[in-house]
Amino acid sequence: MNNGTGRPWWHGAVLYQLYVRSWADSNGDGYGDLRGIIGHLDHLEWLGVDGIWLSPTMPSPDADWGYDVSGYTAVHPELGTLADLDELIAAAGQRGMRVLLDLVPNHSSSAHPWFVDAESSRTSAHRDYYVWADPSPSGGPPNNWLDMTGAPAWTLSQQTGQYYLHNFLPAQPDLNWWEPAVHEEFQRILDFWFDRGVAGFRIDVAHGLYKDALLRDNPPLREDNPLHGRFGLRPVHNFNQPEVHGVYRDWRKIADSYTPPRLLLGETWVSELDELAKYYGDNDELQLAFNFPFVFAPFTAGGLAAVVRRTLSRLPAGSCPVWTASNHDVGRFASRWCDGDEQRTRLALLLLATLPGTTVLYYGDEIGMLDVDVPPELQRDEMTLGQTEGQGNRDRARTPMQWDATASAGFTTAARPWLPAGDAARNVAAQRDDPGSTLWLCRELLALRRAELGGQVGPYEELEATDGLWAYRCGGLTVLANLSGRAAIWPGECGEILLAAGAEPGRSPDGIALGPWSGLIAR
Ligand code: GLC
Ligand code: CA
Repeated sequence: MNNGTGRPWWHGAVLYQLYVRSWADSNGDGYGDLRGIIGHLDHLEWLGVDGIWLSPTMPSPDADWGYDVSGYTAVHPELGTLADLDELIAAAGQRGMRVLLDLVPNHSSSAHPWFVDAESSRTSAHRDYYVWADPSPSGGPPNNWLDMTGAPAWTLSQQTGQYYLHNFLPAQPDLNWWEPAVHEEFQRILDFWFDRGVAGFRIDVAHGLYKDALLRDNPPLREDNPLHGRFGLRPVHNFNQPEVHGVYRDWRKIADSYTPPRLLLGETWVSELDELAKYYGDNDELQLAFNFPFVFAPFTAGGLAAVVRRTLSRLPAGSCPVWTASNHDVGRFASRWCDGDEQRTRLALLLLATLPGTTVLYYGDEIGMLDVDVPPELQRDEMTLGQTEGQGNRDRARTPMQWDATASAGFTTAARPWLPAGDAARNVAAQRDDPGSTLWLCRELLALRRAELGGQVGPYEELEATDGLWAYRCGGLTVLANLSGRAAIWPGECGEILLAAGAEPGRSPDGIALGPWSGLIAR
């Protein structure tokens, strides 16, 4: 587990996001669970990942599938017990893998005892844990903020005649980070889990937490771009407030007080890379901040190269970028970037495996799993039920892991899994039997990454290339990728070819010939 360099273990590492409810069901109730994960760790060890991030595991009424937490220091009974989690951390550790949990500090569940108390009276002990405001002079919500369903972000609480804020669902009241007691609560929560051997947290809505103290109206949105805002408004006053950085400076001190230091990986949903860079602080805030401009970049040489170049020019020296292309909200890259085309999916994996910093794969990326068109009557995500716009319905990327070709893709023995499985012809067992499969390619890529880039944030240098080609050096590697449907020539010498994806590369007096959507890694 020690990468021998004295550098943080996540430098050059690959993490695997595991949506617990959808990965492996051990008790036949149709929902994935912690014991299901323990039973399938062999897959992750064989694949060669360095760590796993578990989607929410804490008790929750599941209005937003665990992102509405009703107890921060326990395990959701449907997913297992604290003892199961301890066992999972130990079993993963024996295989050289660390475990990160998902922490949700922007809001709790309305069923959390803090909120139940807060709602009971204006003078209750926990009243100021949440954001309350009087109705506007005309009697409506206090301002124009909208929640993630497009409805007002305020719900009137009959008990006290004030509105409470919810940037997500009404069942997810926003916490009030102007209240010092909220800071103390979360510092205790961090210690509780770090003491148990949790390697770190993915921090949900890390760009949230603080809201404008004056609750000013949000300005209109100028363009239709999920990165810039939704439902016609720019979230200028309800997200990404400067005060949030103080929280991460405090948390970083806590994380660094452990051996090894614990990892803070933020879901920093901001559109500008300068804003993203701020979450690294002076290397004294988050160690990793998710890059959504990369997620939404077009799958073209120019589009991807530009985001990578700009990201690296903005992040503080010595920091570690993080690249991901799929998750439980934005969908799967094999669909969004690659339109289900296997060769493009392989090329995307090659790129993800050779960028400097940390790479996060989403479960199923390794077999090229696709978004699944879940019919409206089977959709389970309340926040995006029936939505076709923007991110669309999020269930499409939360369907069961496809282990084999049996009923329910080998995910559960239940007659019906909680969400329908996609096309089980694409599955782990079949791809394990085929050394030419995407799964084997992914494994080879991760092994190559570990050998060549493990323990370092490889210095990155973009190489000159013509239209459609993206060429770069990362650490000691040269990567050439043809992100176009036409054959292309890279006019140079790349050294020894270690791995190729797509058509076999050719050498000619003019340079290296790359087939459509093909790439190579050389040294
Ligand atoms: C994050 C999660 C998303 C959730 C939201 C509210 O964006 O990734 O799934 O609905 O936060 O917690
Ligand atoms: Ca189960």
